[in-house]
Amino acid sequence: MVPLGARSYSIAIGAGLLNDGARWQEAVGSRRVLIVTDDIVAGYYLDRLTETLGDAIEPCVLPAGEAHKTLATAGRVWNRLMDARLARDDLLIALGGGVVGDIAGFAAACYQRGIDYLQVPTTLIAQVDSAVGGKTGVNHPLGKNMIGAFHQPAAVIADIGTLATLPAAEYRAGLAEIIKYGVIADAEFFAWLETHLDALLEQDQAALAHAVGRSCAIKAAIVAADEHEHGRRALLNLGHTFGHAIETGLGHGHWRHGEAVAAGMVMAADFAARLGLMERRDVTRLRDWLIRAGLPTWAPAELQAERILELMAGDKKVRGGRLRLVLPHGIGNAETTADFDRDALGRMLIEGPPDA
Ligand code: NAD
Ligand code: GLY
Repeated sequence: MVPLGARSYSIAIGAGLLNDGARWQEAVGSRRVLIVTDDIVAGYYLDRLTETLGDAIEPCVLPAGEAHKTLATAGRVWNRLMDARLARDDLLIALGGGVVGDIAGFAAACYQRGIDYLQVPTTLIAQVDSAVGGKTGVNHPLGKNMIGAFHQPAAVIADIGTLATLPAAEYRAGLAEIIKYGVIADAEFFAWLETHLDALLEQDQAALAHAVGRSCAIKAAIVAADEHEHGRRALLNLGHTFGHAIETGLGHGHWRHGEAVAAGMVMAADFAARLGLMERRDVTRLRDWLIRAGLPTWAPAELQAERILELMAGDKKVRGGRLRLVLPHGIGNAETTADFDRDALGRMLIEGPPDA
């Protein structure tokens, strides 16, 4: 449950939920429904959901991929909503990964000034992060996620069985966001992830349900405390300032977002250790886990320190010209700070990763 007063909503997590007719009946009721999905997810799961729903109208199938997360694509959803004459009390369903969820959520936020939508995430990143919390939006040619709105879903229904068809690299990228929750908020969960990584890599359903559930619970608590990111919600961006610099520096699409976040988290942790905020052995624990998960743990050598610093200076978290970083204070706790020596950051980037 994400406790937001009248806008509170439930998060259902389990295998086979796409076929759970009673659950869908409860979520949809007698409303008309437009399913928004992408052309890859549609091939796997659209028929299944359509059958469960019974009489959904002609779906809106978007081209898959970040390149299509644009205002023009959101326009296709609005066209479909208009064609089908959906009313303000009808319902939109976002079936897919973070791209579909962000576009469909944004379309729902704007259509008739806001209609209900359900998040039905089918990637690991979407199940543990993007489907929860109400951030919706599209990219602008000059910046990622620059056009958007906060619009909370009416419910989240995460069928972990859908992850079986996700490409392995996409799945691993999602694991980075899961360990992030352990680092920022829950040392016990971090330790559980250390002992259950093999089970997660094998997609053991019980382990996966626990990992997705705990991740969503941590995110829900943070969102409930700071829905519009005036403070604590920024902790969810651990590793993202370094990560965005890597993604932009290499050119979007070269590294997956979760891969860049993995490297960014180790860089943030290493910097925290240099500042005396974190034990070196905890940095090693994080790094070792990410290596076992098959994820990168530092920016690629081809990105020079100066370029990374330059890109970090353009981050959304810069306030009054001062770069702010989310830094772990050990495992299970993190803070956002602008109070650090920029030269020390530069030295770390020049020296590169510590030896294992
Ligand atoms: P995505 O939606 O592009 O999905 C990745 C790929 O997997 C796509 O090709 C998709 O078609 C395919 N796919 C999805 N589910 C599948 C399945 N079950 N089986 C096979 N293939 C499947 O990307 P993503 O990694 O889910 O999400 C990244 C996006 O999410 C970015 O745009 C990012 O900005 C956004 N995001 C938003 C938030 C938020 O809070 N709103 C948080 C994190 C990320
Ligand atoms: N993904 C970060 C947030 O939802 O705030």
